[in-house]
Amino acid sequence: MDQNQSEESQYWTQRYVENRMGWDIGYVATPFKEYIDQLTIKNIEILIPGAGNAYEAEYLFEKGFKNVFVLDISQTPLDAFAERVPDFPKSQLLLGDFFKLKGSYDLILEQTFFCSFVPTTENREAYVKQMANLLKLDGKLVGVWFDIPLTGDLEKRPFGGDKELYLSYLQTHFDTTIFERCYNSIPERQGNELFGIFKKNEIVLDMSCCHPELDSGSHKTL
Ligand SMILES: C[S@@+](CC[C@H](N)C(=O)[O-])C[C@H]1O[C@@H](n2cnc3c(N)ncnc32)[C@H](O)[C@@H]1O
Repeated sequence: MDQNQSEESQYWTQRYVENRMGWDIGYVATPFKEYIDQLTIKNIEILIPGAGNAYEAEYLFEKGFKNVFVLDISQTPLDAFAERVPDFPKSQLLLGDFFKLKGSYDLILEQTFFCSFVPTTENREAYVKQMANLLKLDGKLVGVWFDIPLTGDLEKRPFGGDKELYLSYLQTHFDTTIFERCYNSIPERQGNELFGIFKKNEIVLDMSCCHPELDSGSHKTL
């Protein structure tokens, strides 16, 4: 673990140990539950980065999704998860830094993860780029983002944001399928959350210049 990673890990572990985890609702959030309930293909590979206690992973696992990967930089919530869901494969509990993860997933579920980083442009661009890197070509990022004012107070992690701000970053690598105020937030978060489904952008190259066999104006979609 490098210095930065270990500082982040210690920061979050401390929050868990001191039970300062206002983000943790203690059960799978309704927007995720309803989204998961309509998924039909059970063998897709799903990543939950910055998963914390990962109630949505537990729910997915109970529903028969077996290729679920839970990632966190802190060992503490991973241990708690392993104790709570003993049958979940330990090999799918990943301790590490999201920014260093390699892999290729069909679906990434995000909750209070984007907003857990210090809100610099650099961090936010890196997050979006890495999300896109970790998805297969037709992969989706699905999540719930806080729709609350962003303050500069570093003790206010997770930080707020709004639709326009999130989109300004996400649209560099994703097409928006839906990004709306949640109609099904848990009571405590009513009116303060956005639900989004984002599809990784396809890279479209104009190959007509270098492939004469292609019709003029043809595009190849990679
Ligand atoms: C605000 S909490 C959210 C936890 C969970 N998603 C939830 O909504 O209950 C942020 C989580 O991200 C984890 N985290 C922060 N930075 C990370 C990183 N670079 N890589 C992996 N996990 C990270 C923290 O340890 C913490 O569990």
